[in-house]
Amino acid sequence: MKLLALALATSLTTAQAQQPLAPTSRWQHQPVGSAPTPPMGWSSWNAFRVDITEQKVLDSARVIVDSGLAGAGYRSINVDDGWWLKRRTSDGRLQVRTGLFPSAALRDEAGGDKGSSLRPFTDKIHAMGLKAGIYTDIGRNACSQAYDADSPNLPEGTHAEREVGLMGFVKQDVALFFGEWNFDYLKVDGCGLSSYGRDRPHVASGQYREVKPSIVEGNVNQSDVPGTQALYAGLKQALHEVRPNGDYVLSVCLWGTVNVRSWGQDYGTMWRTSRDIANTFSQMVHNFDTVATREFYAGPGRWNDPDMLEIGNGDFDGSHLLEARTHLGLWAITAAPLMIGTDLSKAAPALIDILKAPEVVAINQDPAGHQGVIAYADSDRQILVKTLADGRKAVLLFNRTGAPARFTLTAEHLKMDAAAPIALRDAWARADAGTFTGQREFQLQPREALLFTATGKHLLPRGYFVSERPGNVYVARDGIRAPEQDPVGYRSLASWATTDNGGTRPAYAGWGGPRADSTPYEQALSVQRQAFRHGIGVLADSRLQVQVAPGSQRFVARVGVDDSTRGKTAAVSFEVWGDGRRLAATAPMKFNQAARELGADLRGVKLIELIARQHGADIVGPIVVTWGEARIE
Ligand code: GLA
Repeated sequence: MKLLALALATSLTTAQAQQPLAPTSRWQHQPVGSAPTPPMGWSSWNAFRVDITEQKVLDSARVIVDSGLAGAGYRSINVDDGWWLKRRTSDGRLQVRTGLFPSAALRDEAGGDKGSSLRPFTDKIHAMGLKAGIYTDIGRNACSQAYDADSPNLPEGTHAEREVGLMGFVKQDVALFFGEWNFDYLKVDGCGLSSYGRDRPHVASGQYREVKPSIVEGNVNQSDVPGTQALYAGLKQALHEVRPNGDYVLSVCLWGTVNVRSWGQDYGTMWRTSRDIANTFSQMVHNFDTVATREFYAGPGRWNDPDMLEIGNGDFDGSHLLEARTHLGLWAITAAPLMIGTDLSKAAPALIDILKAPEVVAINQDPAGHQGVIAYADSDRQILVKTLADGRKAVLLFNRTGAPARFTLTAEHLKMDAAAPIALRDAWARADAGTFTGQREFQLQPREALLFTATGKHLLPRGYFVSERPGNVYVARDGIRAPEQDPVGYRSLASWATTDNGGTRPAYAGWGGPRADSTPYEQALSVQRQAFRHGIGVLADSRLQVQVAPGSQRFVARVGVDDSTRGKTAAVSFEVWGDGRRLAATAPMKFNQAARELGADLRGVKLIELIARQHGADIVGPIVVTWGEARIE
């Protein structure tokens, strides 16, 4: 049976590679590990960097349990970089720095050194009712060895002994982490592939072996996408062998580089979309921006990761509760993993209350797993709306600026009927916040984010817009010819960037991917001057899989080449497939032709595939198409 499934999967994969637009009639996303809702927990990195000890980790774990944070869902206790001493060359087994993790020291009866094991540590964590996470690197060496060169806690010994990363040891290390040591969560970094070029001081000095970088930050063209994918595929396979029941989380940490924002969902449970967060408001916003436009790439079992929380640190410490709330609100509305990154033994009770806020966490953990969609955005203000499993909407109003800002929230933002009352509930205050009809004004303080749930009458008398349920969509083919840098990941902000070196330029590929209620390039949807407030914007040569809610009757959209298209000469036909059958299609359409209505009977259909097929080449550029008002009724 397994073999048959494997053979089927392989033949499907081959067919897809040859004919990427061919419908497969089955949901193609195969989850890696298991995280039906965004992973939650605590990690040592933002709190301690490489200055960790077992005691510090256990102290925060104790607070997690005693303060009720575990009860709120924060259960994974993750040890980040800094735990290792060396790789024992006689058998390749990783050794723990037992000076920092005393319970890891193994002794024979005479008290002699028998190596080390983190099993006593994970046993303690598990006995507290928690889960345990560990950290490694996909290359030979880790990030700390490149960036924390002065730390006394770096691996020691010969070159080979200091090569503590997975390269060449994937199966052995994964068996050690998950089989013997019984960890539940693995974060796999990528510095071994990016930071050991010959020009780096730690390599030039002969301290570490050179690895020609296959990941070049800020330059996807110079990065080896298939090579990186192949390494993570090997890791995925090794995990599957040790934990065939899928009971683990794999956190892919490639900082938004090497086009991971597009393929992370196929290789990890979660994947970082940006560089490391820092405890400054501007860096936090930068990281948020790198997930905010990726709504179609996340869903149950697959999560965009803007990095661990900084609540408790710097701009988000006990004297900045407003900023702390904003930070958590942004992570909640985007269904981001919630990993606390502060020393909880020192955290102010008010911060713990913020982290625990039940109605805020519930928005993040909503079982439907939809990421919030941008309903309004300018440089200063954003409104994001997240569809919840019970039909309510969560809505976040975010003032990015240092001055007070005025917002008008409309029924349309919420895709609700403007003539019917809409009841708001304040997720922070856990209190009803009044009812409005049509629209309501808000005045926000600098850096404030308000977070509500909204109950009202849906704009559609029955059914929903596809763009409201992005977690039900899998981007089987995005139509992007060659990865492009996303200019929405603005320049900057990196702690090492200064005005005399030009700042850091946009560093994340993924520009041109499908968007909810927007074109792939952040324009309003419009076909022959007919504007669509709701719909999907995508490039031609694309195939989107959409799960259909049970009992649905019909799919309807108004389709055409978008007015913002770059390529204006080639034609595009639109097809709707249901469970592998062609249900409806248009003739080829060109720029400046009126949108056509495309309807399909969905009775009994579980999965539809929306294909925009391009006819002929267009030398000017990609063709932007619009599935206007695409809805399932
Ligand atoms: C990288 C990661 C961080 C952290 C450090 C550890 O920078 O992005 O999250 O794990 O490495 O050295």
